[in-house]
Amino acid sequence: MLTNRVTQLLGVEIPIVQAPMGWIARSALASAVSNAGAMGIIETSSGELDIVRDEIAKMKDLTDRPFGVNIAQAFVSDPTAIVDFVIAQGVRFVTTSAGSPTRYTSQLKDAGLTVFHVVPTLRAAEKAVAAGVDGLIVEGGEGGGFKNPRPVSTMVLLPLVTKAVDLPVIAAGGFLDGRTMAAALALGAEGVQLGTAMVSSVESPVHANWKQAIIDAAETDTVFLNSHTSPGLRALRTPHTERLEFDHEQNAMASFGIVRDVYFGGDLSAGIALGGQVAGRIDASRPVAEIITTCAAECGSTLRGLADRYVRPGSSFPRVEPTD
Ligand SMILES: Cc1cc2nc3c(=O)[nH]c(=O)nc-3n(C[C@H](O)[C@H](O)[C@H](O)COP(=O)(O)O)c2cc1C
Repeated sequence: MLTNRVTQLLGVEIPIVQAPMGWIARSALASAVSNAGAMGIIETSSGELDIVRDEIAKMKDLTDRPFGVNIAQAFVSDPTAIVDFVIAQGVRFVTTSAGSPTRYTSQLKDAGLTVFHVVPTLRAAEKAVAAGVDGLIVEGGEGGGFKNPRPVSTMVLLPLVTKAVDLPVIAAGGFLDGRTMAAALALGAEGVQLGTAMVSSVESPVHANWKQAIIDAAETDTVFLNSHTSPGLRALRTPHTERLEFDHEQNAMASFGIVRDVYFGGDLSAGIALGGQVAGRIDASRPVAEIITTCAAECGSTLRGLADRYVRPGSSFPRVEPTD
């Protein structure tokens, strides 16, 4: 199996991370990911810390493999208490997002945790490196969820950051299968994070209507909201989100809706179902273990196939020595 800095730092067999997602990234989903040999993540962005504490306790019954926790700073209910809360849960791996890397990194690292920060630009990546993080999650604007209002696609952002930074990078935004994972490795990443694919999985707790909307979506069926303010969001296209797309008078967060109705009641018109452009490539709801093992196996066969095709002895492909 593939070994690199991400597998070593995270203690996983497969360098795939399940995205943290408010209300969704809880024990049913995260334990399936960890049991498949990848990294399951528990969210805190719901702000429901009593439930999150119970979910982490359940994780310890459901898996003996590593799992992590995300701190999405903009959505933390008590910013002064969140680090102590996370440290008290005994996890070894934390991703921080939607905020400044200087805020929590040293406190988390002093407690012995491995910290990866989510970055949407090169400048943010450089700030995170200066803050002393262990690695980066480089998140392209095609991904689902909360975004920099000026989104940069993974294809541009990932090689930009991996060329400038020598920390291990996990690529997020647009990943689904082994071919896209192989592309991430080619662009300098050492792992991938899956969001929309995990929402669509069998173990995802969201209503079947949301999974079906992902399956039905074409690659053009997401909208980017709040490009005029913050936070930006990428969500599935519905009549409701389409109306918000070019409404630059109000913040789309005011129309987020009631999570219970949208996420678990299946009424997608009642709010905003976050999702990325990769929805256009998802054609079924699959078990998490199948998504992860197929992705890893296909990544290997893609890389081998490329090597056979382009770098076998006698290949006429021009040789260019790397300049850096
Ligand atoms: C429903 C949903 C909720 C999300 N919530 C969070 C969150 O709480 N914290 C976070 O760091 N990222 C969040 N994200 C972003 C994901 O972590 C991930 O980077 C993104 O989904 C990757 O792109 P993809 O959707 O193309 O896989 C969310 C994404 C989705 C789809």
